Amino acid sequence: MSNEKVILAYSGGLDTSVCIRYLQLLHKFDVISLTVDCGQNEDFNAIEEKALTIGVIKHIFVDAKEEFANNYIIPSIKSNGMYEEKYPLATALARPLIASKMVEEAHNHSATAVAHGCTGKGNDQIRFDVTIRALDPNLKIISPIRDMNLTRDLELKFAQEQNIPISLEAKKYSVDLNIWGRAIEGGNIEDTYSEPPADAFQFVKFDNDSSDYLELEFENGIPVATDGQRMNIISLVRYVNDKAGSLGIGVVDHIEDRVVGIKSREVYEAPAAVAIIEAHKDLEKMVLTAHELRFKRVVDEQWGWLVYSGLWKEPLRSDLDKFIDATQKKVSGKVKLKMQKGSLRIVGRESRHSLYRDQLATYTAKSTFDQSSAKGFVELWGLQSTVANMIDKANRSQDIEDGGATVR
Ligand code: ARG
Repeated sequence: MSNEKVILAYSGGLDTSVCIRYLQLLHKFDVISLTVDCGQNEDFNAIEEKALTIGVIKHIFVDAKEEFANNYIIPSIKSNGMYEEKYPLATALARPLIASKMVEEAHNHSATAVAHGCTGKGNDQIRFDVTIRALDPNLKIISPIRDMNLTRDLELKFAQEQNIPISLEAKKYSVDLNIWGRAIEGGNIEDTYSEPPADAFQFVKFDNDSSDYLELEFENGIPVATDGQRMNIISLVRYVNDKAGSLGIGVVDHIEDRVVGIKSREVYEAPAAVAIIEAHKDLEKMVLTAHELRFKRVVDEQWGWLVYSGLWKEPLRSDLDKFIDATQKKVSGKVKLKMQKGSLRIVGRESRHSLYRDQLATYTAKSTFDQSSAKGFVELWGLQSTVANMIDKANRSQDIEDGGATVR
């Protein structure tokens, strides 16, 4: 009888390479490795070769760049997706997509199980497991690193014993990469007080003193052109990654709350995500009312939390998308950014849906704003504060008169 088959999400990195061997040795599975291209721009032939060398019976490659950009990155731009106001969710967005491909390939190959290389300490295990179960609760989920409580040091040792080739970078950091950003964990980054060394970064350059402008044009909340050129979303993100990254934009360094309760020091480089979301937020401020903006901030925050915490398949997320999409009908226009030495500033914006009215805002004689109507408005606006302070004051002087004897 032949072995059961397992589909392993395979990146070519340390964790997933070690998993191939564990799945064979411990679980007696025939391993099929699956690499999903979410724009990580890696040498996919080398990854396939590595998987075959370690011993998979088959390797599958899926180009999911378009799907990732259209169905994951674009909704995240519309909802200004930033976890804890800092992290553009790059890894969090890719996991449910990869999980859906795992399930699809498990069905295609009559595999009884799927596997991933996540540790039990992170968020990725949640994103994979929850999505896989939502799509097919009958598939077994195997997570060798988590199940055996492996540490990176043990994995490196095992890899050496088993002749599994390991890159220099893997020895230093744990990296996850896609077109929306790159996460760098481990190594000296775990010391919260030490500055990440320049060699931790791939896209962001720190030695460029020049400044430059970047123009972004949005239609219905989606970036469609940059610097006057119309581009599809993938080319646009790559263009902005290169340009903004070359000017030092897009480094995020913060303390992050993982779902499992751990506080971790996270370092990211995400030039395009940082620049595009900053521009998108600015444009929204011009075209949405104050009421829409206030409510949308709450919705955006909730959307980001659902995605971060692995609940991509939660119906609330698609319910929120409907509200977000409705607001985006007005988010069309241009934003001009100025970038220099890692700082990014928005220096201009325009839209045919702009609610900015020169004749209302101007301090010149052109103003059509009737200042006399402000007087009554301001009085009513503060009415309850006036009354509350008056009552408080009266009660305090009554207390003094009573010598503090009054019990209320
Ligand atoms: N902290 C980020 C997140 O939860 C990044 C995870 C990156 N994963 C990795 N294997 N380095 O999305």
